[in-house]
Amino acid sequence: MCEEVTPALKNVSTKSLWKAGDGPVSSIFAKLISKLESSTGLKAEHIFIKVVATCCSFAAVYVTFSWILKKMDPTYEEKKKAQIQAKVMLKRLGIDEHALNEYEVAVAANLVDPRCFDISWEQIGGLDNVKKELKQTVIFPLKNFTLLDNSKLMKPPRGVLLYGPPGCGKTMIAKATAKASGANFLFVELSSMLDKWYGESQKRVAAIFNLAHKIQPTIIFIDEIDSLLRTRNTQDHEATSMMKTQFMNYWDGLLTDSKSQVIIIGATNNRQALDQAILRRMPCQLYVGNPSTDQRYHILEIILSDEVLGPDVDLSVIAQITDGFSGSDLHEVCRLAASVRISEYIDTTSADNKEGSEPSSPILLLPMSSCSSAQPETGAPTDKGCDSNKPDKLENLRGISQTDLCTGVDKVQSNISKLFC
Ligand SMILES: Nc1ncnc2c1ncn2[C@@H]1O[C@H](COP(=O)(O)OP(=O)(O)OP(=O)(O)O)[C@@H](O)[C@H]1O
Ligand SMILES: [Mg+2]
Repeated sequence: MCEEVTPALKNVSTKSLWKAGDGPVSSIFAKLISKLESSTGLKAEHIFIKVVATCCSFAAVYVTFSWILKKMDPTYEEKKKAQIQAKVMLKRLGIDEHALNEYEVAVAANLVDPRCFDISWEQIGGLDNVKKELKQTVIFPLKNFTLLDNSKLMKPPRGVLLYGPPGCGKTMIAKATAKASGANFLFVELSSMLDKWYGESQKRVAAIFNLAHKIQPTIIFIDEIDSLLRTRNTQDHEATSMMKTQFMNYWDGLLTDSKSQVIIIGATNNRQALDQAILRRMPCQLYVGNPSTDQRYHILEIILSDEVLGPDVDLSVIAQITDGFSGSDLHEVCRLAASVRISEYIDTTSADNKEGSEPSSPILLLPMSSCSSAQPETGAPTDKGCDSNKPDKLENLRGISQTDLCTGVDKVQSNISKLFC
């Protein structure tokens, strides 16, 4: 190969190139080339070609090796998607992605624009004390941060813990708080923190706090915080315990920075499992418990507000017979009640079909996939969906009755009982 290339290079002597300048660097190169020529017995052109060929081989091995590593990483596609998502979100929030490092961009995939939450305080039944406390200690100080500049005591707490049984509205409350305060919402999960590579988890912790600081006001929301920051023990993996320690160090940074508008809200079903040092950093701890009878009545009213109810429905009776139910259980009761009449409706229309008459609302019997109302190329909605006969409402669909609700209560009750068997 050298023999083929050499004639082409003959006119451009490499040695003469080194010698072209008079500077000290050129003379060092010239000496080096002469030495190499004498020690290897090769001409300068050949040495040059060998060096280039070796560099190219190394580059090829490096590119192949990193490609194989990427392909072997099962989360590679996920990471790529997350990166695209992060860029979209940063653009929407008006944040310059170039001001962030690669870890911060990766963390930004978990950012949520609070304006996108379709949740408000009115949609959360009961929990008046919790709502009042959050409005007072978090939302007001965050919204009036500059006005309260002179008072250290009126600054929002750096940590808020929402704890209590599952399904009672902790996540809803955190979202409503972000929406009401207008703060950016950074959702942190255990899975997004842990990485198999040594030192990566710590870099992610740093990225969370740095990103939150750069885009403040920010609420860092850690759902199931006990899984991430549970009591440290000797069986902890070294990387996990380092990650926890680093988390606390950064948290302390928030405590000492009076200008910081970053708040951590944690939610857990298991407060006891949390590290004492974490609990100390969350001075505002709010219990989100199972609703009382009045609160259940209110929650039922909210959940059923858009539904047609039969004249026999008495929500106070349902509230009384659902002692121990969470908000999420009540939601399930209502969903089951609604689906009883839907299944009845489908049975009726199918029976009508068998008898040869037109079904009153064929849309119910069509699979969703066959009914796209978007133009295939532009994605813009068309005036007509796939079914131009689609009725505005389902005629003959009766309202939810008290019996439907009681059926829902029975089913949820039996599910709860199964859990304790
Ligand atoms: N107070 C409430 N008012 C209205 N709906 C509620 C309430 N509490 C719970 N729900 C219903 O239950 C669902 C679950 O609530 P959410 O996810 O906030 O509970 P959670 O306390 O975070 O549960 P987990 O501890 O399992 O994460 C909500 O989407 C909502 O439909
Ligand atoms: Mg939750």
